Amino acid sequence: MALVNTKEMFKKAYEGGYAVGAFNVNNMEIVQGIIGACKELNSPVILQVSGGARKYANHAFLYHMVQAAVEDSGLPIALHLDHGNSFELCKDCIDGGFTSVMIDGSHLPYEENVALTKKVVDYAHERGVTVEGELGQLAGIEDDVNVDADKASYTDPDQVQDFVSRTGVDSLAIAIGTSHGAFKFKPGQKPQLRFDILQEIMDRLPGFPIVLHGASSVMPEYVATINQYGGKMDDAIGIPEDMLRQAASMAVCKINVDSDLRLALTAGIRKHLAENPTHFDPRQYLGDGRACIQEVVAHKIKNVLGSVDKA
Ligand code: G3H
Ligand code: 13P
Ligand code: ZN
Repeated sequence: MALVNTKEMFKKAYEGGYAVGAFNVNNMEIVQGIIGACKELNSPVILQVSGGARKYANHAFLYHMVQAAVEDSGLPIALHLDHGNSFELCKDCIDGGFTSVMIDGSHLPYEENVALTKKVVDYAHERGVTVEGELGQLAGIEDDVNVDADKASYTDPDQVQDFVSRTGVDSLAIAIGTSHGAFKFKPGQKPQLRFDILQEIMDRLPGFPIVLHGASSVMPEYVATINQYGGKMDDAIGIPEDMLRQAASMAVCKINVDSDLRLALTAGIRKHLAENPTHFDPRQYLGDGRACIQEVVAHKIKNVLGSVDKA
């Protein structure tokens, strides 16, 4: 089995009413924790790399760790660029072996988003690489860009058919109320997603795979562990799991999770060091962090994505 693009994965997910997890990777323990869970549950998976992760860990290290994951697991794995912000970055990743890229022109005026996305699609499709575009803007932080809640905007269902047909994208990320990071709603605010918008988009694009960013549920057990062992994440709040399950049963074929992995890894490491103040071997505390990543990904596959035995 070699790396795959997302075409077949999304077709099966759409037809089967489940979603594929897209997990952000930055180091070896994160890759191993995710793959451990996917092996245990025979699940397909997308490993995604942001521009920031690529700067942190270097393209070659990430690419070869993901190749090792393919070799080790035999599972269908796509290697995806998360939030590509230029044609050049997408081209670099395509030339460097990624099987899927996101070009995020969601902050651009509509016609500029169409033109940039189409340029990436033309380059990618000639090389067998699939492309995710985005319409609508999520609130929250990604790389160095911080979008205020009042500048965020829902996807306009009237634009989606035109965008997909003119660009040729293989999947579309939409904004229906999710946001990036661990603080998705204000204290006291009731979490809500606009399923009416998702339904309108589905009606206009029958059978077409939709992507949900900012989809961490910010699992309370890891937040509690972090707070118990000296952290301070009191107002952390995510998307309720029942809403994510509902989205996965509709047209959402890819659910993006990064913050939940960060929380799990941090909780595992904080707990280990607090309970073992004399330890200084990274394999001990990173090993516990990795086990927490595996636990959180297994939980997602079983309780949110529905991708058990879909590899
Ligand atoms: O959507 C953003 C992801 O959480 C990646 O975050 O850009 O800090 O690596 P990053
Ligand atoms: P979270 O911050 O909710 O994990 O979202 C991650 C994401 O959308 C990556 O693109
Ligand atoms: Zn995102």
